[in-house]
Amino acid sequence: MMDYTGILSACAQEIKPSGIRKFFDLAATMEGVISLGVGEPDFQTPYSIRRAGIESLEKGRTWYTANAGLPALRQEIAGYLARRFGLDYDSQREILVTVGGSEAIDLCVRALVNPGEEVLIPQPSFVCYDPITRLAGGVPVPLVTRAEDGFRLTPQALRAAITPKTKLLIFPYPNNPTGAIMKREHLEGIAEVLRDTGVMVLSDEIYAELTYEDRHVSIASLPGMRERTVVVNGFSKAYAMTGWRLGYAAAPAPVLSVMTKLHQFAVMCAPTVSQYAAIEAMRHCDDEITRMAVQFGMRRGLMVSSLNRMGLTCFQPLGAFYVFPSVRSTGMTSEKFCARLLEEQKVAVVPGNAFGDCGEGFVRISYSYGVDHLIEALGRIEAFVGGLRADNN
Ligand SMILES: Cc1ncc(COP(=O)(O)O)c(C=O)c1O
Repeated sequence: MMDYTGILSACAQEIKPSGIRKFFDLAATMEGVISLGVGEPDFQTPYSIRRAGIESLEKGRTWYTANAGLPALRQEIAGYLARRFGLDYDSQREILVTVGGSEAIDLCVRALVNPGEEVLIPQPSFVCYDPITRLAGGVPVPLVTRAEDGFRLTPQALRAAITPKTKLLIFPYPNNPTGAIMKREHLEGIAEVLRDTGVMVLSDEIYAELTYEDRHVSIASLPGMRERTVVVNGFSKAYAMTGWRLGYAAAPAPVLSVMTKLHQFAVMCAPTVSQYAAIEAMRHCDDEITRMAVQFGMRRGLMVSSLNRMGLTCFQPLGAFYVFPSVRSTGMTSEKFCARLLEEQKVAVVPGNAFGDCGEGFVRISYSYGVDHLIEALGRIEAFVGGLRADNN
């Protein structure tokens, strides 16, 4: 038998597996489990988008596209960014179509970070930033965000974390898992700290279309920020297109050209069928975004009020489709809470510490499910929490 530990990359082996997957692998082995764990819309991709994908196949468009993506799609993306967020990017030199927002994040970090340079990662946040930084030889520096601050990054915390080695700030808003957003006045404070530095920003705006009270503002739209920002976005969440694997980056040309080079060597181009479908999404589906966002808004109300009623104190999410209640009142760790909830009531949710150590004491519950499913799951969570209380009395 070969000893692969001596063969596999040490850095790759040291990366911890995603704390999201761990629970789902376990849940998959059990009968009757109801999941509130997955981070993808339950809606089908709108029909006209699926139709456009089918048509592209019928017409036999089965070749590679240009490395950076179909010119018509890049033009639509530039138009969309201008229309929805007031951003101005040149479709030929400043937009790259990628395999999901995930690839855009990976490319951005690899294009910017030299070994030993520091990457600031506000947490709790999406699970990929830390491992991607490590694989690029960078040093992840977690920045703790707190429920008292609405889980926003504060200018003070940012300023205190910047060192001569800081290369990049990951800016994950609207946030998965907390539902935090950064309004224009909050962005001003962050921009003020960054303007005099050489620190770049990776703004992960994959949930930009899912905000409930205020429209999303991109940090790249603030004075002096466009030149230091890579905007990452995609089709997965806004258009319910997770399986199409399509995203994009918008960035100043010198950064984007290096990202495009890496993209070319890694994947050549994003899937062709998906690119044709995405043109339709951008041309004709603004209403579909709204239709789904309205549904998510209703579910958010249901989740927040029900969880608070059960004593699982819940920050009111302002974006994305997750609630992040505290489970401290139960006296259990996040993992213990999730393990027992799964075992005793067969409901799968994600422990908050999967999103960084400071997520301990919370769990992430996704409401990207139908209302019947949510009501059934909430009933089981209530039975679980009620049972704990009875045990303690
Ligand atoms: C914050 C955040 N960024 C990026 C992604 C990646 O999305 P995709 O690669 O499907 O575009 C996700 C997916 O869950 C996410 O939650």
